[in-house]
Amino acid sequence: MPLARSLSVTSLSGLEEWDEEFDREDAVLFEIAWEVANKVGGIYTVIQTKARLTCEEWGENYFLVGPYMESSVRTQVELIEPCNATLRRTIDKMNSSGCKFAAQCDEPPHIVAHFHEWLAGLGLVLCRQRQLPVATIFTTHATLLGRYLCAGNVDFYNKLAEFNVDKEAGDRQIYHRYCLERAAARCAHVFTTVSQITAIEAEHLLKRKPDIVTPNGLNVKKFSAMHEFQNLHAQSKARIQEFVRGHFYGHLDFNLDKTVFLFIAGRYEFSNKGADIFLEALARLNYLLRVNHSEVTIIAFFIMPARTNNFNVETLKGQAVRKQLWDTAQTVKERFGKKLYESLLVGQLPDVSKMLDKEDFTMMKRAIFATQRQCLPPICSHNMLEDSSDPILNCIRRIGLFNSAQDRVKVIFHPEFLSSTSPLLPMDYEEFVRGCHLGVFPSYYEPWGYTPAECTVMGIPSISTNLSGFGCFMEEHIADPSAYGIYILDRRYRGVDESCNQLTSFLFQFCQQSRRQRIIQRNRTERLSDLLDWRYLGRYYVSARHMALAKAFPDTFIYEPQEPTSATGFRYPRPASVPPSPAHSLHSSPHHSEAEDEEEPYDEDLEAEKDRVNIRQPFNLPNRNKNHTVGLPEKN
Ligand code: UDP
Ligand code: G6P
Ligand code: GLC
Repeated sequence: MPLARSLSVTSLSGLEEWDEEFDREDAVLFEIAWEVANKVGGIYTVIQTKARLTCEEWGENYFLVGPYMESSVRTQVELIEPCNATLRRTIDKMNSSGCKFAAQCDEPPHIVAHFHEWLAGLGLVLCRQRQLPVATIFTTHATLLGRYLCAGNVDFYNKLAEFNVDKEAGDRQIYHRYCLERAAARCAHVFTTVSQITAIEAEHLLKRKPDIVTPNGLNVKKFSAMHEFQNLHAQSKARIQEFVRGHFYGHLDFNLDKTVFLFIAGRYEFSNKGADIFLEALARLNYLLRVNHSEVTIIAFFIMPARTNNFNVETLKGQAVRKQLWDTAQTVKERFGKKLYESLLVGQLPDVSKMLDKEDFTMMKRAIFATQRQCLPPICSHNMLEDSSDPILNCIRRIGLFNSAQDRVKVIFHPEFLSSTSPLLPMDYEEFVRGCHLGVFPSYYEPWGYTPAECTVMGIPSISTNLSGFGCFMEEHIADPSAYGIYILDRRYRGVDESCNQLTSFLFQFCQQSRRQRIIQRNRTERLSDLLDWRYLGRYYVSARHMALAKAFPDTFIYEPQEPTSATGFRYPRPASVPPSPAHSLHSSPHHSEAEDEEEPYDEDLEAEKDRVNIRQPFNLPNRNKNHTVGLPEKN
């Protein structure tokens, strides 16, 4: 019998490596998911952002398998010939035999196959049923039944232990899919999920406790200039402001410099994603801002794809009108400049009263006339196919947020994912997020929730909940999350109305921050990025693969769980600098203005440095999977 190899982690910078004794040439990793090169939601983000790190570890022995979508293949895939001989033979064989699988080699490598979500689960079940020599991992990113039950207004978390799961799945006509999911979870060598809260859900609904929790990470961009992300915010915000100028043409009776941009984004699951309580809170916020005579205007964007028949005319017209006003201003400016130049050439100061002539005025009057508008600025940017039954639109109709002049809260529903090629708002999602002030994700059902995580690494504060994997993860690792711009809404121990009040109060407090306070808070938010980096979180995937290999090939591999270390329970401490609440972060001068805020955005750097010294140590953070952590190097 060959000597068993110890699979362990050398955790220098958080990037785990195989033990020296493990020959990478000897193993192949497949990851299989419906969202490989196929953007639907967050699973795409998991695969796409993790790819670089996994490639660093597995090199050419890493393969992603997904559905063949012609359009995605054209835009996202570079076609190459497989350089691995075994794989080439397998593909040839599959092609010649009408896609039948055969592992055709004399010395097969150790294969790890990692399946994501129930759609890929069939492959896993067949691997096991046919007793293929493959180490299998199944990761669920949500349970089917959980998603359905939550969307149906069930008191999900209090009743988790009581559901008759077979019956519930049957009642919802998802029995076959649920069986597939449960079978995959059950027969995988290693079963994982993305958060602790979904681990509990899986234990009850899929009847298997996950072996490891594999939280989702991101590729954290490091800029050479420390405040580059602040500059990017200002640049992207200017582009959103341009869009708003067009969208609200004829009704631009609010100060864009005192306008705060909020947004919610993701797959369109109205109540699971918390769009319902966000709208309700916006209505309450609108009332509060009005009675308090606030100068702040809120624009709340809803970016959730629905069925549409393209952009609507009124929205496109808005951008055309804005463009025309801009062009008119440029033409008049050119003519003005020319006259000024002529005058200076002959040594005269210009006669200001003659700088604009009749033609200029006619041009400007005509342009202003085009901004007359009979209707209010549109709520929705597209023609909705199911307009009368759409939950967001119906809720807006009920609460009466119609973008009227009196409303301090305006709403824009963009029922399509963002794209830099859009004729309306030509920004990709990342640019858009950077330009906003606050992401609002008050989800009821959210196994992880990439959207607030993405905000964090871009230095944009967000609201999530204690029912989302992300919210719980941050609560666990940060002593005072809201000081860092991570607001965690209580949806676990409060009723809907109470949660909605709490959300309203978060939003109202946020509106009261000065520019300076927002800048300070963004600095703090961005400092949490390392916590969400795959370079730190990737270790849980490494751990899962090691465990699977040891279970599938016990004669060859041993998996060494690690005892909890003294680092267990590490939390980011409270920031040492003054809190950014309006009440406490006072200026030394009583006569400050917003303009001053802008002039001295970084005068808290000294304070911030104290925070930084305190918190720049995330790679020492604990391994969260107390029962199945990866062992320290131990040679056989
Ligand atoms: N997203 C996007 N374009 C948009 C809006 C959202 O690509 O216009 C992405 C976003 O970057 C995130 C994903 O959609 O990675 C949503 O993932 P999340 O985990 O928040 O929710 P899911 O849809 O998977 O439930
Ligand atoms: C960044 C920029 C500043 C700008 C500020 C606006 O910090 O570096 O120059 O003043 O953003 O912040 P606000 O929260 O008002 O969009
Ligand atoms: C699922 C979940 C989401 C999670 C994503 C990636 O789609 O709904 O919360 O972030 O998978 O794991």
